[in-house]
Amino acid sequence: MSNAEDHDSERRDFLYYAAGGAGAVTVGAAVWPLVNQMNPSADVRALSSIRVDISDLEPGTQLTVKWLGKPVFIRRRTEEEIAAARDVDLAELPDDIARNDNLGEVDAADENRALDETGEWLVMMGVCTHLGCVPLGDAGDFGGWFCPCHGSHYDTSGRIRKGPAPTNLPVPVAVFEDETTIKLG
Ligand code: FES
Repeated sequence: MSNAEDHDSERRDFLYYAAGGAGAVTVGAAVWPLVNQMNPSADVRALSSIRVDISDLEPGTQLTVKWLGKPVFIRRRTEEEIAAARDVDLAELPDDIARNDNLGEVDAADENRALDETGEWLVMMGVCTHLGCVPLGDAGDFGGWFCPCHGSHYDTSGRIRKGPAPTNLPVPVAVFEDETTIKLG
């Protein structure tokens, strides 16, 4: 990835923070919002299911939607991302549990985290499991997500690989309602 693209993706994440109402973020001041400060109001909590149109999502891009007051990442993965996620020895994972609310307690194989069998779709909470910052996409040592707050690196399956975060990014209850709609909750 070029520096320009890198900058662009950082900028998109920055814009997302600003729109999230988490307060002022000064460029260069390394002030990152904590998601648990964004407490959902009662009316938001009442809206426990939402439908997301994914028809415009290209492979290698992701959508961030706000659900129950928290960001949810919906990523359409490339073949390379899927292969990287599936070519991992589970013994290397700091957290070997899938953390998928759609399944019971199963191992953290990528097949147990992706929403569909091919692995093209990955849906997970965009909240770092360390102290609740929003990780950046297309970043980090494992090509997945990187949390700049204290340096947690997640892989292309959203599993923690390095840094202080104790567990994988959780996969919320989600289902394909039709070919272009994912229902959360
Ligand atoms: S909140 Fe993400 S590394 Fe600390």
